[in-house]
Amino acid sequence: MNKPLNNRMQQREKIIDQLTENLVESTVAVLPKECDPDTRKKIRHEVSDRITFEANVALNEMVTKYCLPETPREEKQPEQEERTFLRFGKNFRAQHMLMFVSVIILIITGMPLKFPELSISKFLIIDLMGGLENSTLIHRVGAVGLILVGIWHLLYTALTAIGRRDFFLMIPMPKDIKDFWHTMLYFFGRRASGPKFARFSFIEKFDYWAVYWGMIIMIGSGSIMWFKELFPKFAFDISREAHSDEGLLATLSIVVWHFYNVHFNPGVFPMSWTWWHGRLTESEMKHHHALEYAEIIEAESKEIRAGQNETDNTGGES
Ligand code: HEM
Repeated sequence: MNKPLNNRMQQREKIIDQLTENLVESTVAVLPKECDPDTRKKIRHEVSDRITFEANVALNEMVTKYCLPETPREEKQPEQEERTFLRFGKNFRAQHMLMFVSVIILIITGMPLKFPELSISKFLIIDLMGGLENSTLIHRVGAVGLILVGIWHLLYTALTAIGRRDFFLMIPMPKDIKDFWHTMLYFFGRRASGPKFARFSFIEKFDYWAVYWGMIIMIGSGSIMWFKELFPKFAFDISREAHSDEGLLATLSIVVWHFYNVHFNPGVFPMSWTWWHGRLTESEMKHHHALEYAEIIEAESKEIRAGQNETDNTGGES
């Protein structure tokens, strides 16, 4: 970084410090008595962090908006339309589609076997699928779909750059524990806002690893039951128990946890369409993935500055 830029950054830090100081000082009179010096220090620290973050995002956003030369993306979009960001590419969306079709088939054909006494089970197996023979055959079709998507995802993770990047970003980090705690404090009214997430929040990481683990158990135990003649009886018994319980757990976690996050949450109801077009709007990015958004905007803004420097150095000749 060159010297004048360094000086300007230091100047900006000073301004933010001063602003925070003034803000906190002007609020001291209205702070409750319990607000001891330590808490005030914490408040000062968090306010300063927030101002720095918002100021950086706003500055980069404005530079991108007003100084970026017209790009094909902007030419294509009508002016009022909100900018969108690609979150999931075609390959990943296709994997997700094959996965949910397979899992829905597996749930509809598996659950009635676990709860045969229910009238809905009789309806599904006898009236809808025409008997046990058909339903177990359809269960195996769903199972092949799930196995294929498992292999596909492993290859995608190993062989594509985006797959590898996302896999590493999915690994749980100490920040996830902090974010979890921050979210709890926020839910209980002890923080004014929730944590800021990067590309994957701790909730999304939990979702991903739960499915990973679930697939290993379901495919492993299902295959042992499918080809029971190749295994000892105790392996079949253990597999049946594991398959049955993990199947119920997977069904409940999909219906309660996953459906809440992507369908019933008031913020996305009736459904988030990201599974179809793979995109998030600018406001969704700011709200759900503020750190990733800040990174993208900063990278764009750097690109523009580099472009401008090049034009300056060549005297604007092309
Ligand atoms: C999300 C995925 C899955 C769910 C929710 C699911 C659910 C179930 C349930 C609840 C049962 C009845 C267990 C009982 O009798 O208590 C069952 C049976 C069975 N499942 Fe699955 N399953 C899934 C995936 C698979 C896979 C991947 C395979 C094969 C690789 C498989 C093969 C079987 C077999 C062979 C049976 C025994 C009944 C039959 O012959 O159809 N399942 N499944």
